[in-house]
Amino acid sequence: MNNDFLWWRDGVIYQIYPRSFADSNGDGIGDLPGITGKLDYLAQLGIDAIWLSPFYPSPQADFGYDVSDYKNVDPLFGTLADFDQLVAEAHRRGIRVVVDLVLNHTSNQHPWFLESRSSRDNPKRDWYLWREKPNNWQSVFGGSGWEWDQTTGAYYFHMFLKEQPDVNWRNPQVRREMLDVFRFWAERGVDGFRLDVFNVYFKHPDFPNNPRKAGLALRAFDRQWHLYDIDQPEMHPLLTEIRALLDQYPQRYAVGETFIATPEKAASYCGPDKLHAAFNFDFLFRKFSAADFAEGILKWEQALGESGWPNYVLSNHDQPRSATRYAKGEDDARVKVALGMLLTLRGTPFLYYGEEIGMRDITLKRHEIQDPPGKYYWPFYKGRDGCRSPMQWDDSPYAGFSNAKPWLPVHPNYTQRNVAVQQNDPHSLFRFVQQLLALRKAYPALQRGTLRFLLPPKPGILAYERTLNEQRMVVLLNFTEQVKTVGVSSPVGSSAGQVLLSTHGVQESALNRPMQVHPYEVRIILA
Ligand code: NOJ
Repeated sequence: MNNDFLWWRDGVIYQIYPRSFADSNGDGIGDLPGITGKLDYLAQLGIDAIWLSPFYPSPQADFGYDVSDYKNVDPLFGTLADFDQLVAEAHRRGIRVVVDLVLNHTSNQHPWFLESRSSRDNPKRDWYLWREKPNNWQSVFGGSGWEWDQTTGAYYFHMFLKEQPDVNWRNPQVRREMLDVFRFWAERGVDGFRLDVFNVYFKHPDFPNNPRKAGLALRAFDRQWHLYDIDQPEMHPLLTEIRALLDQYPQRYAVGETFIATPEKAASYCGPDKLHAAFNFDFLFRKFSAADFAEGILKWEQALGESGWPNYVLSNHDQPRSATRYAKGEDDARVKVALGMLLTLRGTPFLYYGEEIGMRDITLKRHEIQDPPGKYYWPFYKGRDGCRSPMQWDDSPYAGFSNAKPWLPVHPNYTQRNVAVQQNDPHSLFRFVQQLLALRKAYPALQRGTLRFLLPPKPGILAYERTLNEQRMVVLLNFTEQVKTVGVSSPVGSSAGQVLLSTHGVQESALNRPMQVHPYEVRIILA
């Protein structure tokens, strides 16, 4: 029985980058009906919620993270009716829908900005951050954060592209409009929100220069201490207001993308009157090492304390994929260990589309690069296109993603690495993930049970138990290519543990006696 199931705490959230998931109308760009057509696949995989990267009307300067209308769907991706259908069909399958709200900035083609820039006395002038002179604040995507605008002879601030002007959250009308965006989508049945760079919303009202930070970072942005352009105290009461709004609807959820995250900072924005969750991104930068991951887990657990609920991410649309970082060639053994950990820790796991089949990043030539920061910083940084390539469904042309040439190339490994092949292979990564998701559903200890490490992580093994009431699960993850011997005691004195999953076909685990764990084995035992 799993009656206490709370979707955002106990479930698994699957991120979809709509441009790259499934193209239903043959224009080489994925769309909402394409996603609807794959809901049976997602239900079969066993995920509980989808998070959709932006699908709103947008000039696509930052591929949808530059929004020109918060309450509609870009014709590239479909219509509002398509969206409603997607939500209805997802709900019919027990899948929740999380949308991405990009409220720090709009597109420079948003009617608000067009008005704001039109004259100094326009009623929306104060909706953006206009100054006579720039200060030293930088754009993350390169260059000064201030753009000269000829019409009124003034500068506006943009933390990202110049096509993404930051709004002025101190203006009460802006605040009202933005809160209304939550209401609009909540009323349409949306279950949750991912808040793009929420901790950038407020800037210091006096615009002081940021102090310089020593070091040789590539981006000028990273050679400053960001004291005045992010993490201003006004964010806390705003989050309380957002939470009160969400709590007017049943089981709504908000997860914030913490900009320049640390576990402590992310945790400080979470709580019963703030966000349900915030990303800390720790795992995206960890080596493939048991000790390294254990350190990240402990830090996160400590920062959140008793009341906070962790979340874990190994891949997203901004960083190289987990398989690209951890796998050796096309072998998925190490990816299984990483995903075995992601899906059995105490905290909400986020999977990124294609992670379940171990998609690797594509590599692009300079002229093929689409991502603006990739163009700006090339060759020192090649941008984020690598992890955004089309989903590999089967071995037909364009991997079954589209019948036209896709907006980004398909990875050349698609003829062997695709959903169809892996669904038919009992040892595939897909089948492993599917099995893990089924285990999570069958054993609530894997969802909301407590977490306790069983061994010091140094020898290359992560071993932990998850306990809920009488249910005790032991998870063993061998991060090395050597056989490891570990001893795990059984509290009830019984020595037989039932092996529920082993990547190496192990069927019995005698607890209380040393156990041999195979190279890169994932083993889950009901103790
Ligand atoms: C963070 C998003 O994840 C990223 O993709 C985007 O470019 C920036 N925010 C700007 O919205």
